[in-house]
Amino acid sequence: MTRRPPLKQQIAFPLLAAVFFGLALFVLHRLSSTPLTAGFMTGPTNSWQWAMRLASIFLWMSLAFVCVRALNELVFFIFRKRKGYEAPNLVRDIFSLVAYITLLAAILKLHFEDISFGALLSGSALLGIILGLALQDTLGNLFSGISLHADKPFQVGDVITVGKWTGIVMSITWRAVKIKTFQNHIVLISNSSIAKESIEVCPRDGQNARIVFFAALYTDSPVKVMQGVREAVRECENVLRYMTPVVRIRNLGDFAVEYEVKYWLSDYARYNDTDALVRQRIWYAFRRGGFTFPFPTRTLYMAQEAPDNGHEQDAETLNDRLSALDLFSPLTSSELSALASNARGRVFAPGETIIRAGDDGSCMYVVHRGSVDVRVDSNGTPRTIKTLGEGDFFGEMGLFTGEPRTASVVAAEESEVIEIGHEAVRPLFEANPRLVEALSHTIKERRAGLAANLPAAAEEETHEGLIARIKRIFHLD
Ligand code: CMP
Repeated sequence: MTRRPPLKQQIAFPLLAAVFFGLALFVLHRLSSTPLTAGFMTGPTNSWQWAMRLASIFLWMSLAFVCVRALNELVFFIFRKRKGYEAPNLVRDIFSLVAYITLLAAILKLHFEDISFGALLSGSALLGIILGLALQDTLGNLFSGISLHADKPFQVGDVITVGKWTGIVMSITWRAVKIKTFQNHIVLISNSSIAKESIEVCPRDGQNARIVFFAALYTDSPVKVMQGVREAVRECENVLRYMTPVVRIRNLGDFAVEYEVKYWLSDYARYNDTDALVRQRIWYAFRRGGFTFPFPTRTLYMAQEAPDNGHEQDAETLNDRLSALDLFSPLTSSELSALASNARGRVFAPGETIIRAGDDGSCMYVVHRGSVDVRVDSNGTPRTIKTLGEGDFFGEMGLFTGEPRTASVVAAEESEVIEIGHEAVRPLFEANPRLVEALSHTIKERRAGLAANLPAAAEEETHEGLIARIKRIFHLD
């Protein structure tokens, strides 16, 4: 909002002008003593007297005009000092209008004594109708303006959308609301049309949000895309620091995963620039993260069966990972390859449950990338008893003992795990009886760990008992 100049500056010119017109009136009335112009106020008879009377009316009106201006400035200066804020323009205009009309009536009465304004106004029904019709729009605007000032649905500096217009409110007068569009055009919307339309208001000091859309390939990890974009957007200029941007998947489209990022602005009036900056930062975040903006694409699988979407790793990578595990160290390379070709990679988002306590388990997992939390229920709240990282395995207890899952396992971050099913393990036991031994040791250790955290889980089973159980389940004898 523009600041008003100081009072001195505002009333200096009207006061000077008032002095000038006052002097001119004084001179004019002194001149009325000449025989030619004497009596110009009481009923002119010659053209000199008429000229004098018109000049007098003109000077009085000019004097009235500058006096009202000076008075207006003074009154609203006092108002500002007392209330601490600027009086609305509409109130100032009404104040001036009433003062002008009153002084105009007084000046006319001074020069035309015979006129009866009361009779003129009350007696003339026709005049009333004509005035009413002529001022229909003006009065409509005036009353809508009064209601706008009373309701205060928006203020100077807010961004509003009325009909097809969107812009920053520059001023609100008794006739219209002036807005500046984002193409820097000034649009005047009459108060009466504002009263009829629905208005969208984005308050200057409110927490206004914007949503920007973007898309990424299906092969780009959603967790990483969302993380990268969130970090990039929160650093943008004019984005509220204390409101973390929200990145969401809005659709799984034909060619791409479609996202939206919602962010909050400090200065909503600059949302076009900020949207553009956000899109620019998304581009850089994609570049850094190695993500790809999608083109309309079709994937053709030629002379090959479409792969299972859950398979994240090819057999070679799985083989590398499995061969590095102590658990499978007794296996020959061909046994390992057989195991890898029967295993499958699975990817989980942070917080996703891989294994749920109490479920039946027919497979075990090896952490290929990321980390997972082993959680037990402690008086109704989940408690992490162990975090397993790359190369660790889990789910073996359910798989090899045939018992329900002893704990829940949840991805601590985006993680890829290798799933090994019952069918894939059986041939290994047959070829390598030492595996059963190695596994039973791990299971015993983990049972002890569980018992330390969850006394109810303590189970007395001998080493031999456990081995016998595994053999029974896999029909190894
Ligand atoms: P399972 O019982 O099939 O499912 C839950 C899994 O959590 C379990 O197999 C183990 O692999 C794992 N687990 C249970 N207790 C522990 C522990 N104390 N340390 C590490 N892992 C565990």
